[in-house]
Amino acid sequence: MTDSLPKDVAFVNPRAEHDFKGRTCSIVGVGSYVPERRLTNADLEEMVETSDEWITTRTGIKERRIASDDQFTSDLATEAARKAMSKAGVTGGDIDLVIVATITPDMPFPSTACLVQHNIGAVNAAAFDLEAACSGFIYALEIAQQFIMSRTYDTVLVIGAEKLSSIIDWKDRNTCVLFGDGAGAAVLQNREQSHGLLTACMGADGGKAGLLSMPGGGSRCPATSDSLDNRLHYLRMDGKETYKSAVTAMHRAALKALERCQLDITQIKCIIPHQANLRIISAVAARLNYPMEKVFMNIHKYGNTSGASIPIGLNEAKRSGRIQPGETSVLGVVGAGLTWGSAVIKW
Ligand SMILES: CC(C)(COP(=O)(O)OP(=O)(O)OC[C@H]1O[C@@H](n2cnc3c(N)ncnc32)[C@H](O)[C@@H]1OP(=O)(O)O)[C@@H](O)C(=O)NCCC(=O)NCCS
Repeated sequence: MTDSLPKDVAFVNPRAEHDFKGRTCSIVGVGSYVPERRLTNADLEEMVETSDEWITTRTGIKERRIASDDQFTSDLATEAARKAMSKAGVTGGDIDLVIVATITPDMPFPSTACLVQHNIGAVNAAAFDLEAACSGFIYALEIAQQFIMSRTYDTVLVIGAEKLSSIIDWKDRNTCVLFGDGAGAAVLQNREQSHGLLTACMGADGGKAGLLSMPGGGSRCPATSDSLDNRLHYLRMDGKETYKSAVTAMHRAALKALERCQLDITQIKCIIPHQANLRIISAVAARLNYPMEKVFMNIHKYGNTSGASIPIGLNEAKRSGRIQPGETSVLGVVGAGLTWGSAVIKW
């Protein structure tokens, strides 16, 4: 191929000379936001045939937050982003890239990331949405790390944000008790003399796409009066199969991340898992032989917030002192797709 290039064409590949040694991808600020309105298990007892006892024992959830009618995913994302930026001491103009992980974008296009970019004045940033369901934030961390390590970008803003209440079938007791709204964000930068994100692993099994999906609204099934009558624009789930796959995938993902960093589970101070179900998390912890006291939990307050779950957990774990400088934490997630992911962070 090279021989066929005209001899007088000079070009530069800006990445060819890069030295990645000594470069880190550090989380320099985190923030989260949840809407004010609480929907308790008692409230749900008034809406569908369920009970606080059933929900609590099967899932660990006591309440979840619900965004107001005029509050959209981009609004939740913007609130979380502003908090993370303030902690990191960066302004909109410092940000090179905005990634929003979401399955509930404000609209199919333009991306929610573009709306957030405008809200926070990130005038120099590229912006895109990432769709990997609950695993989106960890997928986004891995992508951000590639950009920062390769010196393509200095500052990346990664957000997980969801208004899941907009795709919940409030007549379906199998799903409506599980989910809630919220957002979390992290600012990532190279930071000398630091460790940061040691690794992030991503995985997927499209053969299990049918376990958890929203069938309507895409090119396969655009909105029609039939699709509305058949309630295809709501989230659907095979709970039992999702449960089994979730335990296997989260366990495997955590082991893979530890193996990559040559770490033993006893060296991990805190696991921050995707808050899908207390029983899933307990089963994974048991398989890892890891004490539940060291697993960060907030599912009782928010339910499953999909892409927002990990960054909300990250922020709350940090604020409550569960993460200290020098310690190592593991993040783990599973979501629709199926997708899964894990990450190791040294603070
Ligand atoms: C949804 C889930 C909590 C159900 O728990 P489960 O142990 O599988 O449920 P069980 O088999 O004990 O109970 C099923 C029964 O409860 C009923 N049920 C379902 N939701 C209910 C509710 N909110 N209240 C009361 N009863 C309910 C079902 O209709 C079923 O009744 P039937 O036996 O008469 O048909 C569980 O399967 C789960 O957590 N799955 C994974 C979900 C998840 O995390 N998804 C997101 C992944 S990112």
